[in-house]
Amino acid sequence: MTMDELKRQAAARALEQVRDGMTVGLGTGSTAKHFVELLGERVKAGLQVTGVPTSEVTRADALRCGIALTTLDEVDRLDLTVDGADEIDHALNLIKGGGGALLREKIVAAASDRMIVIADESKWVDALGRFPLPVEVMPFGLAATRRAMATAFAESGVSGQMVLRKDSGGHVFVTDGGHWIVDAHLGRIEDVPHLAALLSAVPGVVEHGLFVGLASAAVLAGAQGIRIVERH
Ligand code: 5RP
Repeated sequence: MTMDELKRQAAARALEQVRDGMTVGLGTGSTAKHFVELLGERVKAGLQVTGVPTSEVTRADALRCGIALTTLDEVDRLDLTVDGADEIDHALNLIKGGGGALLREKIVAAASDRMIVIADESKWVDALGRFPLPVEVMPFGLAATRRAMATAFAESGVSGQMVLRKDSGGHVFVTDGGHWIVDAHLGRIEDVPHLAALLSAVPGVVEHGLFVGLASAAVLAGAQGIRIVERH
């Protein structure tokens, strides 16, 4: 089975949690895209749901699939968000933002009663950090922000190269919110909540890709089948 087929399987399993009348956060990335497509098929078959997209790309995908959309200004809480991840540890802490949508993804996840993470098994790790940590930053004062980030990393016992993300054309990658992303190559992060708190306190950091205490469950698809891990 290909990686893409595994991603679709994970998405299909998460879809079983969607009920008529729900408001559902729609994640971003190749795995979340499968979920949006499968949800669209259910909508065409009569399911009534309203979606809140986590990026402009997902908004376009959802509309193409016939899913009715709303915003966080129009609803208080979401019943469920389904999204992918770049890494998932055993406490269901996540690294997200490989697709550049971490800010809206975190806002939507935090406004949801439940967040189900869908992924192929390769995303399941003993410790976060092999995947470069995306940090969304203000373009203004970038050098000062990077210095403060380095201090936060040192205080948390990690270090590594910080790379300003570029798009495929070699231009600085700009997020949906008009910010930039610095990818921090840290290696193993021992204390994820500590680093998350330190980064959140850096002026100029808009948001970081550490998702702590947000995921309720992970649906992991591998060669041996599907495994569901619940957060306790
Ligand atoms: C986007 C994300 C994605 O969920 C993450 O990058 C995983 O993507 P994919 O499903 O394509 O592997 O955080 O900002």
